[in-house]
Amino acid sequence: MRGQVSRPVMPDLAAKAGGTVDLVIGASDGAIGFFRFRFARRLATSESMQRKGVDMDKQKILIVGGSSGMGLALARRCLEEGADVIIAGRGEAKLDAARDDLGRPDALETAAVDIGREHEVAALFERIGRLDHIVSTAAAIEGAYQLLPEIELEAAQRVVESKFYGPLLIAKHGAPKLPPTGSLTFVSGIAAYRPAARGAVVAAVNAALEGLVRALAVELAPIRVNAVSPGWVDTPIWAFVAGEKKNETLAAMAKRLPAGRVGRPEDIADAIRFLMGNGFTTGETLQVEGGHRLV
Ligand SMILES: NC(=O)c1ccc[n+]([C@@H]2O[C@H](COP(=O)([O-])OP(=O)(O)OC[C@H]3O[C@@H](n4cnc5c(N)ncnc54)[C@H](OP(=O)(O)O)[C@@H]3O)[C@@H](O)[C@H]2O)c1
Repeated sequence: MRGQVSRPVMPDLAAKAGGTVDLVIGASDGAIGFFRFRFARRLATSESMQRKGVDMDKQKILIVGGSSGMGLALARRCLEEGADVIIAGRGEAKLDAARDDLGRPDALETAAVDIGREHEVAALFERIGRLDHIVSTAAAIEGAYQLLPEIELEAAQRVVESKFYGPLLIAKHGAPKLPPTGSLTFVSGIAAYRPAARGAVVAAVNAALEGLVRALAVELAPIRVNAVSPGWVDTPIWAFVAGEKKNETLAAMAKRLPAGRVGRPEDIADAIRFLMGNGFTTGETLQVEGGHRLV
């Protein structure tokens, strides 16, 4: 600024705050210097958070899909780390069961929402207010794993609504509630890379979601946007994929995989936690699939 000179002062205070302090000569009182101190401190704090990974203590995290499977495991993990968590899904009964299971009424809220419906998504974010991170593991795949002659468009549309339009609407209405250090994380899946017969719709939607993630990472920067692509993970979703053959199907895959087992919901929760916390990762799809793409 013309007519003003900055020089560092109060090095002890600056070191304690993890920031720098400038004295602005020419300021009529200490206000500008104080402002610069606060600004520099905030910047330094945000930079150090980006270096160390985010401390989840008191962070406010929305997990759509948090009533089941991977989302539920992530909710548990975030609560253990001291976060305030909101789990969301369509079914109230499922949300109530998850709340009882997680057992942390002091730090946990539930919210009923269908993320395929824009007015519900908009109302949810209006009600929740400020957030630090948003995750969606939601997928409604009932009836979608079919050979082409049996595919019904409504089932395919539910997949698209939960795994493509849902993330799009979450980004539209949720990103304005996030700070610059915030993140959005979505879940695609192995079907995009190793499609099987009956899996055309899910394969296509997973691939579309990964493209969306790359584009959103550019448009919403510096907010980070990532995806995890899981392999086969033992969760309730398998009731829709394999029905009564769930256990034998998963056991056969476990034998094939280099990892020697199928995934656990906690494996994916761990990967999402990494993406939320790593300040230098954006536009990425993190593969967590036990080596499935290699076999
Ligand atoms: N498990 C696997 O082997 C596997 C493999 C590859 C990829 N994936 C992907 O991983 C993600 C998590 O799967 P998961 O196995 O944890 O599934 P899950 O146990 O069935 O959980 C899905 C969650 O999404 C919610 N949900 C579904 N549709 C929704 C909608 N329209 N709006 C809001 N919430 C909705 C469900 O609650 P409500 O039904 O009450 O809404 C539930 O909480 C999914 O995207 C899935 O496609 C899974």
